Amino acid sequence: MNDAGTPILAEQAAAQVSEAWTEVGRPRPHESAVLHVLGQATYTDDIPELAGTLHAALGLSSRPHARILGIELDAVAASRGVLAVLTAQDIPGLNDCGPIIHDDPILTDGLVQYVGQPIFIVVADSHDNARRAARLANIDYEDLPAILTPQAARAAQSFVLPPMRLARGDAEAAFAGAPHRVRGELHVGGQEQFYLEGQIAYAIPGEDRGMHVYCSTQHPSEMQHVVAHALGLHSHHVTVECRRMGGGFGGKESQSALWAAAAAIAAARLRRPVKLRADRDDDMLVTGKRHCFHYEYEVGYDAQGRILAAQVDMVSRAGYSADLSGPVATRAVCHFDNAYYLSDVEIRAACGKTNTQSNTAFRGFGGPQGAIAIEYVIDEIARHLGRDPLDIRRLNFYGRQERNVTPYGQEIVDNVIHELVDELEGSSDYRARRAAIEAFNKTSPVLKKGLALTPVKFGIAFNVTHLNQAGALVHVYVDGSILVNHGGTEMGQGINTKVMQVVAHELGVDLERVRATATNTSKVANTSATAASTGADLNGKAAQDAARTIRERLAAFVAGQFGGEASEVRFADDTVFVAGQALRFGEVVAKAYLARVQLWSDGFYATPGLHWDPKTMNGRPFSYYAYGAAVSEVVVDTLTGEWKLLRADALYDAGNSLNPAIDIGQVEGAFIQGMGWLTTEELWWNGDGALKTHAPSTYKIPGVSDCPQDFRVRLFKNRNVEDSIHRSKAVGEPPLLLPFSVFFAIRDAVSSVGGHRVQPPLNAPATCEEILKAVAFVEAALA
Ligand code: MTE
Ligand code: MOS
Repeated sequence: MNDAGTPILAEQAAAQVSEAWTEVGRPRPHESAVLHVLGQATYTDDIPELAGTLHAALGLSSRPHARILGIELDAVAASRGVLAVLTAQDIPGLNDCGPIIHDDPILTDGLVQYVGQPIFIVVADSHDNARRAARLANIDYEDLPAILTPQAARAAQSFVLPPMRLARGDAEAAFAGAPHRVRGELHVGGQEQFYLEGQIAYAIPGEDRGMHVYCSTQHPSEMQHVVAHALGLHSHHVTVECRRMGGGFGGKESQSALWAAAAAIAAARLRRPVKLRADRDDDMLVTGKRHCFHYEYEVGYDAQGRILAAQVDMVSRAGYSADLSGPVATRAVCHFDNAYYLSDVEIRAACGKTNTQSNTAFRGFGGPQGAIAIEYVIDEIARHLGRDPLDIRRLNFYGRQERNVTPYGQEIVDNVIHELVDELEGSSDYRARRAAIEAFNKTSPVLKKGLALTPVKFGIAFNVTHLNQAGALVHVYVDGSILVNHGGTEMGQGINTKVMQVVAHELGVDLERVRATATNTSKVANTSATAASTGADLNGKAAQDAARTIRERLAAFVAGQFGGEASEVRFADDTVFVAGQALRFGEVVAKAYLARVQLWSDGFYATPGLHWDPKTMNGRPFSYYAYGAAVSEVVVDTLTGEWKLLRADALYDAGNSLNPAIDIGQVEGAFIQGMGWLTTEELWWNGDGALKTHAPSTYKIPGVSDCPQDFRVRLFKNRNVEDSIHRSKAVGEPPLLLPFSVFFAIRDAVSSVGGHRVQPPLNAPATCEEILKAVAFVEAALA
């Protein structure tokens, strides 16, 4: 930024500069990239602690379902450094941290419902002393029968919410007329969010009952509400602040509440700052994960492979409470179609109440769980008909003019799946590689290769209409520097970078002028969670609105000073072009301040045109759809079940991307994360309900060496037909569905063992054991 001097450009040159100049669409690095690599980015645990800060730990249940007959805490209280032990009775307000339904006690009282459920808070002078003390409780339980799996929950009719149903057409009649049918079952496991920074909150009591909570959260406003309710205060007493998270992935949308509330309860009680940082094992034991799903499906189709009728019954493992299981199931229902037109369809979903962690949001929010079932079915149809699955997929794609209404009644007006898949099929050499793999498999008895191309269509917006709103504040300071604050939260996805670009673009200034600050409930009020991939869409629009207001004020001011129409003033390249003059932006700001022009503004955005009826499951829940497709090639060792992803090609529709560098990073990250979900990440509960995979030693997330050597990620050239922020499209979650191609490539390799004549049953995650089981099944069927 250089505010010295006033270079005067010829009018024509000025017009050229302002037309060619852009800030959005440039591949900018993440605004904190340098801080990240230097270890200088401040996460909640890095905030310098105030004198007198205490540390809390949670005492956890060791039983999945039991009545508490007695809690003996003397040894806890007597342990070194302990200042207080708090139970449910010590909560001054509401003992609840449930996001929608109030069935989530902060500290349970009388009844435990999963292994890991918090029963008490111990506050000590150090983190270690608190954790050591938390283990010394003596709790007397009377065990009750526990339900641990979604199937068992369904058998017992144990649900956290009434089951849902979406139907269109007449599936019964369509089945009767269908020449072929396939029916079966599928199980797809859950997934731990495994954010690098665990759950944490640091609560600092202020004057007059005030409470300031630093919290690693995707949803500061909800943390504010939960803390206020727990302390019996109003929202205006509580400020929640989050500069950044070291990953959230949905796991800090509602489940940061327990930690925020517990830290605040302890801080309010002791009138001292209290930090509660979850150890990794506790974090995994206590918090909910991606829902596992069990499916029973039946699909009728014709000789070409066109689907005529489809029926699916899904049940998820919700855990002991509702949390976000309802919205997750709704999204699963709304994504069962994926990219395919299903004329006569019946989709049922239930949220099984189980004595396990309360499952929650995880990247895709049920969408991946909905879509993978139909992909599994299409894979079976293709194998049964002896066709390439890509041909069956194409045959069932939504049409452009007809066959373009979803089962929930939304007309699809932005379908690009045909051209996107055409492009990817060509650029990935799909057909030639298919032939090469067939030749390879003929001569290779042990190592088998597999290939798959899978599409994605993902609806963007919160199903719940009122959540689709956002606010922002833009401050232009007298020195020409700019601060933007918005309701979104930074979890590594680059929302701040994108919002800063939007503001810089709107004001025509260098990006270096703009800085983003921590999300803070005392700045923008009543924010929605940064979730459903809508963060940049909503907050980008709100920030644009605020910046535009300031720009219009500045334009009116300079037009008044230099002549010409305010509407003709141009802001570009850090310069303001007015009536043949070119003024440095900083100079204009300094002059405007002296003339008493308001240099800061709020901004607001509400996504138009959305409606949703949860009873009939019909409406227009989504603003638009994001599309993508990927091709994966794997090699499987059929003697050990080990496999390797040899090459992956992904093509993703980010519309008119706000920042192609960040968007490609999001696609790569989501791809590898989704691959982990479907292959190596296995959650395992013992028969006594204890989660045994609660650390990286037992829970295998992908490592660098699991990424394909040959990884080709590109953005599809497109513009959003909806008036989204600069016609971009969301990118956070949809690419998590791209590695379906890895899963189906593995299945294809296994299927080659039987010459593609046997359907290999393959549940997710496709661990080595699961792959070996499928190979054995195929071999047995041939024998
Ligand atoms: N990327 C990083 N690096 N870290 C994260 O925690 N969360 C994902 C996705 N990408 C996440 C991420 C999830 S679950 C969502 S909903 C979106 O980012 C939210 O960001 P956006 O809406 O601002 O794109
Ligand atoms: Mo993302 S699962 O919507 O936080």
